[in-house]
Formats: sequence, structure tokens, C-alpha cells
Amino acid sequence: MKTIIEKLTYDEQKNRAIIQTAARLIQEGSLVAFPTETVYGLGADALNPQASRKIYEAKGRPSDNPLIVHISNMEDLEKIVLHIPPKAKKMAEQFWPGPLTMIFEKSQAVPMETTGGLQTVAVRMPDHPVALLLIQAAGGYIAAPSANTSGRPSPTLAEHVAEDLDGRIPMILDGGPVGIGLESTIVDFSEDTPMVLRPGYITPSMIEEVIGTVEMDPALLQAPLAWQGEHAGSGSASMQSGKEDGKGILGRKESQNLEQGGLRPKAPGMKYRHYAPKAELILVDGSQEKVQEKINFLAKEGIAAGKRIGIIGTDETKDLYKSGIVKSIGTRVKEDTIAQHLYGILREFDQLEVDRIYSESFSSPGLGQAVMNRMLKAAGHHVIEV
Ligand code: TXA
Ligand code: MG
Repeated sequence: MKTIIEKLTYDEQKNRAIIQTAARLIQEGSLVAFPTETVYGLGADALNPQASRKIYEAKGRPSDNPLIVHISNMEDLEKIVLHIPPKAKKMAEQFWPGPLTMIFEKSQAVPMETTGGLQTVAVRMPDHPVALLLIQAAGGYIAAPSANTSGRPSPTLAEHVAEDLDGRIPMILDGGPVGIGLESTIVDFSEDTPMVLRPGYITPSMIEEVIGTVEMDPALLQAPLAWQGEHAGSGSASMQSGKEDGKGILGRKESQNLEQGGLRPKAPGMKYRHYAPKAELILVDGSQEKVQEKINFLAKEGIAAGKRIGIIGTDETKDLYKSGIVKSIGTRVKEDTIAQHLYGILREFDQLEVDRIYSESFSSPGLGQAVMNRMLKAAGHHVIEV
């Protein structure tokens, strides 16, 4: 299959014609990749089971991992959900269009192929003009996961989509770099207390300002079972679950959860080792000075052993690294920049064919929580504490 890449420009009329063509493809049951404000999505008609199935095929995605249904206006929500809890309505008023996905009980209109066999449906109204026009023109409901091959970092540029899906889908809409760079915050409203299933740009404190108490899926804070022991015995590297002081990225409570046998994440997609670069990614966590010292030491050691080493630092620290291929992910003064560049940097290191990447860690109560969640997954929870 030939993949057509259509660049969207400032020519509104031309854009409309391109979006019409893309919408027609979706209505015919085909796939189109398109920009959103978070990451690029791989879209299909959400109400057409055969079309949804094509998404899983193109991405190589496990069939139990449900898709997010994207809508372009609030009235369209009613057709696909059984009811809208008042708190969810408030959230929509505050954050839609925007980087928020909400989970509802699904109606008959949504096929099981779209929800991965679940009775609930994830819904989002993206804040991107191209996405909104496309959804509307295609009939109102576009199922779209991130437009990467399963297991690869999510695409933040049309070029990333082409890297993964060229020849597998008929069209990519190129809207330039995305704004946020991390997938949406997912909040489950299908049970009594709302629960964050995936952290994102919209933080728990932003949510609590609107609807009061929100829980965090406890499974978010632990290393998935499948990874336990994966790095056992690899020198000073330790699973962060081993922390005893409760002050690190994980506190004591989470360590106990893990000891008790682990928890299953409520968002099926969160259990996979997503976002993984080809190289081994190792996070180094601790005070800034110690982190630099450790990364410099490990990089030197790796290079001496004949390895290609990549280092992820920040604008503030990049000049302090003495060897290896050093890249700045952004500035700690503006956390947004770190989110924006994370996936792109992982892909750049893939192209440079490094064997191992050492990265500073980025835990903080705000957006840092979402960044760290993705980094821990990319690293298979391989963290060195200094
Ligand atoms: O920002 C985003 O959300 C992007 C853009 C394209 O909108 N989309 C995205 O989709 O990240 P995807 O498929 O990569 O991630 C969807 C996540 C998965 O972890 C999936 O398991 C979860 O949402 N999910 C979808 N439906 C669900 C449901 N009914 N219950 C629980 N989790 C659900
Ligand atoms: Mg994804």
C-alpha cells in the first residue's frame, strides 16, 4: 500500500479539501493518521468493527487493548455512552477540547472491537483544529490510539508516524509538531469514585479543583509483575520498589503493594512495556550533583567496554557530561518542554543506534509525574538510585 503524506498549511481551502479526502477514507473503513495536541493518532470509524480491527492489525496491537473514541462536540457523547455522571460533565466543561480522556459505560452503538471487549468506552475531544474538522467530516466518531507501532514511542511528528507505519496505512495528515507530546490523562468515571488510570498534562490537582477527590490507580505506582526480576543482579541497578525510606520516586506503601504480589492496571494498555526505545534505558535518580557524577562514571565505563552510550540531560546540565552522545530534553524551568521532547529523543537515539541510554529522572508533582510514568515504562523500571 502506498502511504500519501499530506502537509497541512496556512491555506484553509486546501486544508479543507485534504481533510475531506481523509474523512472519506475513514468513512470507507480505512485508516488515517492525524495530529492532535497530545500525540499523533491512527484514526478509524469507531462505530465500524472492521475498521477498528484494521487499527490493531496496522499497529500490531494486542486485541485486548481498547481504543479511545474521539468526538468533536458534546452532543455526540450521548449516543455512545449509557449515562454521563455530573462530575464527568463538569470535567468536560472545564477541559474539553483538551488532553483529557474519560471512561464511561458504553452504549450499544460502540462495537466490542473498539473497546477491546469491555463494556466501557474511553472518550476524548482533542484540542486540535485538524482533528476536530476530521472527526466532524468523518461522521463524528474516530477511534484512535497513538499512531506508532505497538511498543514504540508515541509519535510527536508526522515523520515518526511514517517511520512506523509507511506502507501500512493509506494516509498521514502532517500538521507539524504536536503541542504537548504526552498522551492524554485518562480518568475513569464508570465507578463511584473517579480514578486516574494514566497521568498526563491534566494533573490530579487540576482535576480536584473541579470535582474534588480523585483516586490514582494504585497499579500506576508500581513496576508491573512481568518486569519484576528482569534486571535482577545487574550491578548497582535496583528496582525502585526496593526503596525503604519512602522518599524516592516510590514510597513505602507502593513497595508493600508490590511485595504483596502486584496490581493489575485498570487501563489495559498500561500493563505493556510501551514507549520503549531499542537501546536499554536506565534512569539515574538522586541529587543533581550525584546524578551527574554517576552518569559520567557509567558512560565512561560503558564506552571503555565498547558500547555506544547516549545521555539525556537538560539545558541546565548538558554541558556537564563529559562523554557519550549528550542530548538535552528541555529545561527544568519549563516542564512542558521536557514532555514535548521525550518521545522524539528516544527515537533519535534509536536512529543513532546507541546501546544504552542514561537519563536524569524527572519526578515532580505536576507534569513530572506523567513524564516519569512514561520514562519508567520506557526503562522497564530500571532505576539507579544515588
Ligand atoms: O492523547 C491520547 O490519548 C492519544 C491521542 C491520539 O488521542 N491516544 C492514545 O491512545 O494515547 P492509546 O491507544 O495509545 O492509549 C489508550 C489507553 C490505553 O492504555 C487503553 O488501555 C486505555 O486508554 N483505555 C481505552 N479504553 C479503555 C477503557 N474502556 N477502560 C480502561 N482503559 C481504556
Ligand atoms: Mg499508545
